[in-house]
Amino acid sequence: MTSGTPNGLVSFPASFTWGSATAAYQVEGGASADGRGQSIWDTFSRIPGKVRGGDTGDIACDAYHRYADDVELMATIGLTAYRFSISWPRVQPGGRGEMNPKGLDYYRALLDRLAEREIKAAVTLYHWDLPQELQDEGGWAARDTAERFADYAEAMAQTFGDRVWSWITLNEPQVVANHGYREGIHAPGLQDPVAAATATHHLLLAHGLASAALRANLPGGTPVGITLDLHPIRTLGDGDALEPARARTDANSNGLYLEPLLHGRYPAQASTDLLPPDAVIASGDLEVIGQPLDFLGVNYYAGVYLRAGDPDDLRQHEVKSRTGLPGVVEYRPPSLEQTAMGWLVDADGLYDLLMRLSKDAPDLPLYVTENGRASEDYVNPEGVVHDPERVRYLHQHLSAAARAIEDGANLAGYFVWSLLDNFEWGWGYQKRFGIIYVDFGTQRRIPKTSARFYADVIRATAVPPLPTDAVR
Ligand code: FCB
Repeated sequence: MTSGTPNGLVSFPASFTWGSATAAYQVEGGASADGRGQSIWDTFSRIPGKVRGGDTGDIACDAYHRYADDVELMATIGLTAYRFSISWPRVQPGGRGEMNPKGLDYYRALLDRLAEREIKAAVTLYHWDLPQELQDEGGWAARDTAERFADYAEAMAQTFGDRVWSWITLNEPQVVANHGYREGIHAPGLQDPVAAATATHHLLLAHGLASAALRANLPGGTPVGITLDLHPIRTLGDGDALEPARARTDANSNGLYLEPLLHGRYPAQASTDLLPPDAVIASGDLEVIGQPLDFLGVNYYAGVYLRAGDPDDLRQHEVKSRTGLPGVVEYRPPSLEQTAMGWLVDADGLYDLLMRLSKDAPDLPLYVTENGRASEDYVNPEGVVHDPERVRYLHQHLSAAARAIEDGANLAGYFVWSLLDNFEWGWGYQKRFGIIYVDFGTQRRIPKTSARFYADVIRATAVPPLPTDAVR
């Protein structure tokens, strides 16, 4: 339970985990260092026109060489946990067989540093950088990739199991299938709806097989979970009339992953072209996928509002709905701020989502494993990076999280995305999400005002009043 502090602030439980998150391809660089293999993002980012400005993750934040300094910055902020991902091609260059000892050394050194600073390590095994050799054999459209992932997970558990606090199998499988296989805007850049629906199943299967492999090799009680991107779907106006559209949108955006994980079945309400073809679902797969989670990682950025409208005659602030159902449009309330990505700032959505999940799965601990915003940050003449928009964003979302805990949500921790400005996939280095600014020319790090604000929150285990210069 949260409780009011003497000064009237809403406080978090003392055991609450305070983290920040990154992903290997987005921060590490060292792309050809020490025997690292190629990933699908090395390939994809080299295709002209795929990434803004032709950017690649070759150097990124150079965390491969600067991890020790970064851990010091984490300690300064007061983080109690760091979520990072292991680059599969760095530790197992071909995606099967031989491990790369120097790649393993890197993570060993990072884990040692974190332990010295008493920062818990939350490790993601797959944050989108599949070994290219596995892609050449079909990637996630091939069932064998799920088996290879379980082998890799087993090796990681055996190597690092004594020093990792918690394990996340996959990051946002929905984005992998949709952006990578359906829309082609992420690696591997396919536009193949059947491959996308097939990949959905193999990703979930990979999670299930890897969870079993991890549990068989980890010290008892080590938590194993998965991170999903989740999107609360709300209706404006006549809720009853919009209910079929809401249910369909929710099944497509959330249920497709939540239901097999929590209940061992695909949602009947999802669009048929998104559901994995029956032929790829072997008997027993859904039991493997639906084995109990120790926690659910929630990445929250924005929700969806539906209202009655004509998709062929859109009004101001309307866009076509993602389900394409007649008589329904998505509405982007002009009262809500938008980020540099054009994403809505909607902290109530986080509250709604946490409450809904706690109702659906009452005993399942939840972690917000990503939440944050991009803004147009710059170093001012005094050498300071002042980001009042991000301070306000953190204030709103942490307040919503505290409110949800107070109302019974089973939320155990929060990880801000991201620790550092980094390679934002198809947007390259144009979009800055960090609480620490990175000058990509010099690799100089400058903690932004938001890093100081977050440090204040952690110190107080409470959300302080919004600084006046961050008021909108
Ligand atoms: C999420 C990704 C993360 C980052 C943020 C902005 O979908 O998991 O790597 O790109 O979006």
